[in-house]
Amino acid sequence: MNPSISLTINGDRREIELDDPRVTLLDLLRERLHLTGAKKGCDRGQCGACTILVDGRRINSCLALAVSYDGAAITTIEGLADGDALHPVQQAFIDHDGFQCGFCTPGQIMSAVGLISEGQAGSDPERVREAMSGNICRCAAYKGITEAVLDAEAAMSGTKREKAA
Ligand code: FES
Ligand code: FES
Repeated sequence: MNPSISLTINGDRREIELDDPRVTLLDLLRERLHLTGAKKGCDRGQCGACTILVDGRRINSCLALAVSYDGAAITTIEGLADGDALHPVQQAFIDHDGFQCGFCTPGQIMSAVGLISEGQAGSDPERVREAMSGNICRCAAYKGITEAVLDAEAAMSGTKREKAA
């Protein structure tokens, strides 16, 4: 008999019977649940394109066996906006041109949301770059990404940034 798991995905509770007990969270989200925002870049934990939040923490979903996450609350890029209102991190990526082709962007944004909520971002560009170093951008949009994270962090904490990264 195939195992079943219960996941709360972007606020919706789902009971899911797994066709394959070895399925990863990334494949489950993309292929079974048609949530294709998390991207499959390397499928081996090296690029961060598949980053999602599990119980508020960033993980590489390509390395996560879905069966191990029974009962978890998952947030994907599809769950960030509030209706037509973008999440502050999404808005900051637009404001700072934090992307070019966009392939890495969902992972970058989810990673940024995670690190801001972990209280890791602060106002130090070097620290942001370090904390985001698991998210690779082949288009090298790193300057805009760092600016976006710093601005989003400031906006969400109610402070104002004074200098550029
Ligand atoms: S696809 Fe998961 S880290 Fe690259
Ligand atoms: S925007 Fe193209 S890979 Fe990052």
